[in-house]
Amino acid sequence: MTRKITVAVVGATGQVGAVMLDFLAQSEVNADSVRCFASARSAGKTVIYRGAEVTVEDLATADLNGIDIALFSAGGATSASYAPKFTAAGAVVIDNSSHWRLDPEVPLVVSEVNPYAIAGAKKGIIANPNCTTMAAMPPLRVLHDAYGLTRLKIATYQATSGSGVHGVAELAGQLTELVKSGRIADLVRDGQAIPHAQPEVYAAAIAANVVPVAGGFVDDGSLETDEEQKLRNESRKILEIPELLVAGTCVRVPVFTGHSLVVHAEFERTVDVAEAQELLAKAPGVELCDMPNPRDAAGKNPSFVGRVRHDQSVPDGKGLVFFIANDNLRKGAALNAVQLAEIVARQLRA
Ligand code: A2P
Repeated sequence: MTRKITVAVVGATGQVGAVMLDFLAQSEVNADSVRCFASARSAGKTVIYRGAEVTVEDLATADLNGIDIALFSAGGATSASYAPKFTAAGAVVIDNSSHWRLDPEVPLVVSEVNPYAIAGAKKGIIANPNCTTMAAMPPLRVLHDAYGLTRLKIATYQATSGSGVHGVAELAGQLTELVKSGRIADLVRDGQAIPHAQPEVYAAAIAANVVPVAGGFVDDGSLETDEEQKLRNESRKILEIPELLVAGTCVRVPVFTGHSLVVHAEFERTVDVAEAQELLAKAPGVELCDMPNPRDAAGKNPSFVGRVRHDQSVPDGKGLVFFIANDNLRKGAALNAVQLAEIVARQLRA
């Protein structure tokens, strides 16, 4: 008889939770039952799984026994306190927050890149990487295997859905104000010609603008944001290159969904661009194309990669530049989490 599998979704009422439920419904996890958790605020509400209503349970008071796999997307504080309670009750936790990502006993896994790392989940917790980092890992894996990655310089163009529903609402509200004003073209001569309500989510207007800060500043004297440090620390861990040199600037742009990155990568060996393109075309999780862009990436699964060429600032052809666009809610969060759950479910049923 095949083993029955119960899956929990923690944060089921949230933006990523909803997408996880959709992916779970279509996945090879083939859950025999699904339980949904959120805070007391949402307990008793219902969410839809495979066309049926599932009542949301209050995480703080629920009985956690009988759960095999728990998908968490309810913020770092919730993961910090509840992931150990789920593992103690027998579940494998797959966590979307950043809380466990750098714990040496918690593997940080991209399903196509380092699925074997799941075997090292000593605490029963597997971490899902940061959305921006995740987008870059499938192309960088094959390039590293071929040429030996030594340094990354990255600029990101991050969508508002990466900062949650409030970021999306702020962009939508400001865009509506601009259109309603009937004089958008006035912005050509004066960026303040059409005033907005005081921004709440971003440090400056996000519509018809870019904001050169994504994430929060880290209080360590580096003047970097946590997003920029995640790019460094998580790339090193996933690609298993502890000495990898990484610097990034993470920028918020007026896009709803779809994070983009310009990657300048340097290698130990000279890169043949045509060969690199062939490797990228065959790489799992990558779609090589002429014009990767977030509007085309939103709603799709791969990391779209294009504009691949030598970095002319790096001697001996050892540098490559390329552009990536990827759906930050899908592969960047919910899809990878469910793909990890598929691997765990296969292991449980084996
Ligand atoms: P709730 O609906 O009860 O607030 P988003 O990232 O879209 O804001 O969603 C966050 C998700 O995490 C929601 O499902 C939210 O539930 C859940 N959540 C937030 N804080 C807690 C908590 N302390 N305990 C359980 N679930 C939480």
